[in-house]
Formats: sequence, structure tokens, C-alpha cells
Amino acid sequence: MYKTKSLVASSLKKEPVSVTRKMAAALPELRRLAAGKGLKIHHLGAGYPHPEVTDPSGFLIHKTQYFKHLDAKLSPQDPDSTPERLRESYAYTDTLGPVSVRKHFARIYGADWGFSMQPENLIPTIGASGGINLVCSLFERPGIEIAYLTDAPTYAGFIARAQLANQTTIYSVDMDSEGPIIEQLISQIKSARSQGKLVPFYYTIPDGHNPGGFSFSQKRRQEILEVMDTYGILILEDAPYVYISYAEETERPKPFVALEPSRTIHLFTGSKIGFPGPRIGFLYTEACAEISDKEVVPLRDLLLTESSSDILFHNPEALYAFESMLHDENMKPRQSLWSVAKQKQTVYSENREIIMEGLSSGLGKFPERYSWTVPQAGFFTVFRFHNTSIKTNDDFVRWLVSEHGIVVIPMFDFYPKDAKSRNPQAGLSELRLSFCFTESFGDNRRRDLSEAISAFCDAVLSI
Ligand SMILES: Cc1ncc(COP(=O)(O)O)c(C=O)c1O
Repeated sequence: MYKTKSLVASSLKKEPVSVTRKMAAALPELRRLAAGKGLKIHHLGAGYPHPEVTDPSGFLIHKTQYFKHLDAKLSPQDPDSTPERLRESYAYTDTLGPVSVRKHFARIYGADWGFSMQPENLIPTIGASGGINLVCSLFERPGIEIAYLTDAPTYAGFIARAQLANQTTIYSVDMDSEGPIIEQLISQIKSARSQGKLVPFYYTIPDGHNPGGFSFSQKRRQEILEVMDTYGILILEDAPYVYISYAEETERPKPFVALEPSRTIHLFTGSKIGFPGPRIGFLYTEACAEISDKEVVPLRDLLLTESSSDILFHNPEALYAFESMLHDENMKPRQSLWSVAKQKQTVYSENREIIMEGLSSGLGKFPERYSWTVPQAGFFTVFRFHNTSIKTNDDFVRWLVSEHGIVVIPMFDFYPKDAKSRNPQAGLSELRLSFCFTESFGDNRRRDLSEAISAFCDAVLSI
């Protein structure tokens, strides 16, 4: 307890810690317990990119070569003077960041997803997390009551951010195997509006849903767009896993931004296709908003002002480093980001196969007892016990670590408060299994993951 109160601020409150943070905090002690029993630790919990595909050594060499290439191109006359690019990299930059990064990114991303992306509508963010914060912050600033529409379950980082402001309430929508249930989406919009709240957007992760462990069908995306068009609401599309896709090229669903860029605020992150450390992200939108004096303005302008009250100056070095990823080993501008994703996709597809195969061979004989999602993208599958007397609560998850060495994340905390009041059992028969992380590489990675899923199946069968 603190002896002195340096400030009385009864309006401030402590927010609950997110489920993934809680697990990370509890892990050292649980690992100690497991190790004390001679158990190997099986990682099916963390959502971190795999170390095999996030060793920055190769990238650092490529970045250095790209910078040399840029310097020779931009200041060819005087190779001994300090290159302009280097000066710029350590100077204040604009809230929009260097224009060349946005131009290269817009050309490539637009080509990959089949729409014309305008560099002037791209705003750099601190990863996708920064994009979520920026958009929430814009709508919260006037202080009015806000309803945030999202899925049940939804991304823990969004719940944590959405709950920060006093005037916000989450209105969640349950999902079936194709996406949010449309009738419930409509009734949540109506209910929020009847309570006088502004409904600015519907936040979702249509590809490789975290924690849902699946991707929305094309049909459902179309239906969602129709609802959003009818009610004049934006879609906040969080897209960290679009390139971590396991679908055939012709089968890949289109992101909302490619279907209707004027209805969407799209969040790209460099964290999964590249590296999470440099915190690179871009927000893209062609949406407009009618504001206080009935003027219709591009949302981008409002977001840019909001952004300058927050980050103001981006890190130009990190953005130029990201630009190097948009060039191949011959320093030619890339035509697609799929080649950057290739190595990651290969590792994660193998991991996914191991998990899917392990679950099928270990538990596939009991479809009446268990089921799991088959992810078309991303890092996660949701495992379900059909026997609802099994409660996948904190005690259950602790038991899995301390008795079996298996780390998983319970699902119940991914359900917003209103989903839990609709169904107090929400998430309590589900676990999120992730297949992105092991401590080992190559054959050892494959072996560790097989052992992990086999240990999981044994533990489940022992209940
Ligand atoms: C759905 C979702 N959104 C956002 C993030 C955070 O991404 P970033 O590192 O770009 O902030 C994650 C990371 O796990 C995620 O799964």
C-alpha cells in the first residue's frame, strides 16, 4: 500500500488485465511447477510469430543493401557526403511518413487484393494496435455515448482498448461457422441506436479470426456489407493474417477493403508478414463522414488530425526499412507481398497440418464429444468440448499446464461482457489452440508440435 496519496483522481479506474497477459504472467510459475514434475512444456498458447521466420539477420543485410541502393540513386554525385535518406531517417518526419513507402505499399497491396489503393489515403500506425487506438480515439473525442459493434468472441486487444473510455459500450454479435449472425448484427445496431448511441463501426477480423480460428465466407462478407450500407456504419477491418493464408489462390476471400473501400477502415500490420518489433502498420480508408456542420469530409483527414495528437512523428528509419521489404534481392520493386509471406506461410502451413492431423487422429473418433475449427488463415483453432459440464476456466487451464505441461488460452475472456450476459457459459467449453510458436526450429519444431498436440489429445481423453 502507498503511504501518501499524491493525487486524488476518483474518475480513474483500473482495467482488467487481458487474458493473454494474465496467462503470460502466470506462466513462469506454472512452468516451474511443470518442470518440477519433469514435464516438457508444450506451446499451444502464445500468438507470437515463430522465431524460425522472425530472425532479422537476413532482413538487416537486405535493408543495408537497399539503403545503399537508395543513396546511390538519390545522391549519385557525392558518394562521400551524408546521404539525404540517412539524414531524413533521423529527422522529424511527417505524420503521414515518407511518401515513397506509401506509394510502393499502395501499388503492391492494391495489386494483391485487386483494388486501386491511393497512397494519400494511407496513414502509418503503430502496428494494427495503433490503428485500433486511433480509430477509437477519433470517435471518443467528442465525449458522446458510443456503441462498438464487434464479434463474440473478439480480439482481446480490441476489448481492452474499447473498454478504456467511460462513454463506450461493446455490442457484440455471436458467430456461426461463416461469420457474425446477420439478424443479431441488425438487432444490436437497432438496440444501440434506440439507446441514443453513435454506432461508428463494426470491428472484425474476417481472415484468420483471432480468436475465432476461421475466416468469414464470401457470402457472409457480402451480407455484412449490405447491413453496413443500409445502416450507414463503417467496417473496421483488422487484417493481420491476410497473407498467412492456407486457401488456394482462387479460393481466397476478398477483404472488405477490396470489396468496398469507402465503407471500410482497413488495418494492415507488418507484424505477421514481417516483424512485430519495428511496429509498422498502415490504416487505409476511402470513407467520408458527415460532421458537425453537415459538411462531408474524408475520414482520412479527421484520422490524420487525431493521429497528429498522438504519434505526430513516425520513425522514418523503420518506415524506410519496411520499404526495403517492398523490394526484391535485386532492388526491383516487388509486384506482390506473397513472395515475402512465402517462407512464413510454409512454416505455418506445416504447423497447421500437424495440429489438424494430430487432432483428427487423436480425437476424430469422437465427433459427438469434441470439435475444432479448421482455420483458412492465421494462427489459431478453437477447440470445443460438447460436454458442457467440462468448464475450460482458469483452473482447467492451470491444470493443463501443471499436470500436462500444455499451455493453451481459455476462450471465455474473449467474449465481451454483453455476450456473457446473453450466455453465462460463453466460451466456457472452448480453448484457443495456437500453432504459431515453438522454441525449436525445422525438424525439432515439427517434432515439438506433434508432441504438443498428442499430449493435448491425451490430456483431453484423460478427463
Ligand atoms: C487480430 C489482431 N489484431 C491486432 C494484433 C496486434 O498487431 P500489431 O502487432 O500490428 O499491433 C494482433 C496480434 O496478435 C491480432 O491478432
